[in-house]
Amino acid sequence: MAPSTGKIAGSIAFLQCVGSRDQTVGNPYCSRICCMASLKNAQLVKEKYPDTDVTIYYIDIRACGEGYEEFYIRAQKLGINFVRSRVSGIQEGKDGRLSLLFEDTLTGEIKRAKHDLAVLSVGLEPDSNAEVLGNLLGLSRRPDRFFEIAHPKMRPVEAHIDGVFIAGCASGPKEIPISIAQGSAAAAKAVKLLHRGVLELEPTSAYVDPEKCIECKLCVDICPKKAISAKSPAYVDEAACKGCGSCAAACPADAIDMRFFSDQQIMAQVQAATEVKREFPLIVAFLCNWCSYGAADLAGTSRIQYPTNARNIRVMCSARVDPSFVLEALRRGADGVLIAGCRIGECHYRDGNYQALQRVNVLKGVLEKIGLDPGRVKIVWCAASEGEIYAQDLREFIAELKEMGPVGTELKKRKEGEHPEPSARSEEEP
Ligand code: FES
Repeated sequence: MAPSTGKIAGSIAFLQCVGSRDQTVGNPYCSRICCMASLKNAQLVKEKYPDTDVTIYYIDIRACGEGYEEFYIRAQKLGINFVRSRVSGIQEGKDGRLSLLFEDTLTGEIKRAKHDLAVLSVGLEPDSNAEVLGNLLGLSRRPDRFFEIAHPKMRPVEAHIDGVFIAGCASGPKEIPISIAQGSAAAAKAVKLLHRGVLELEPTSAYVDPEKCIECKLCVDICPKKAISAKSPAYVDEAACKGCGSCAAACPADAIDMRFFSDQQIMAQVQAATEVKREFPLIVAFLCNWCSYGAADLAGTSRIQYPTNARNIRVMCSARVDPSFVLEALRRGADGVLIAGCRIGECHYRDGNYQALQRVNVLKGVLEKIGLDPGRVKIVWCAASEGEIYAQDLREFIAELKEMGPVGTELKKRKEGEHPEPSARSEEEP
């Protein structure tokens, strides 16, 4: 039945991917449900009104669920027409019929077709209230504005925030069976959490020294887990904190410290690493626990040959690297400082590696100002399985430092007031 005329439509067009899978305008993603929804509706029409001509205009039919292909074949057998095409416009003619202009992408021809009714598959978009809810719970959102899950393979129904689970279309368009499966998984995870009755805390959580806190609230914005509340002084909810250490690195008053990865402990490691300088260049390397530390380990166990110039210091996330650690290493004679984190988009604390990158770029400016080559600090990314990449990064850094010469020479020139020419080197995202 055509809603505009109230008459039974003699010819119906289903138009797929309207505003979807389009990189310039509309949504770049596939909404995943429209192909099957149109196949279902087209079959219902055909079963009820066998004389109605039904055509589906599609970019490609995505029928990849269980039993979906059979459903697609059934639609073809019922006499539904399929036209692989890109529709560019619809106009209403004087006779009240709709004129469709499209490119037949199998023949490359531009064609017109007349129909009584057009049904558009406009795709799925996040609810406009999602932003309010997301801000309330501190959830992150992807560029397509759906909620981001903690890990696409290992934690598909968990948010970055502990105790918040995401199922179904909240994390992107998906079909009913997958939404039901995710809902069940999320419910099971929530029950497991409640059933235990106790929460295990991360031993490496952050804490605030209320005496030192200047209430700047920088830590509140920076925390990826929304574990810090803007009280006076700031307060870390240790049940929510996962111990990345970004707040401790960012705090301008040094009012935040970490358990087991305290400033004092890391500084002591920096001092020990620079105590004896046998080789040139000497590198102090801060490696994130989850990826690059694993990569360095793998490089060793896989017997990948690389120079022994680096003294590795483990931190939970590259965001934990306080600029003062880097400056202290250079002051004590390290020729270079390497910071290695997870690949961009793969930080276990969401965006710790972005924060580390920003800090390094600021730090490079500081080094330039004090007369040191900014290239003496380098940030790199690798996965835990990329031992060879870590070894290669290290080799490259050693070659760069050899060109720069010992840090002592630069520091000496600086003392004498002869700052060397600043270099324009700056780190780029991979
Ligand atoms: Fe590796 Fe954040 S956890 S960089």
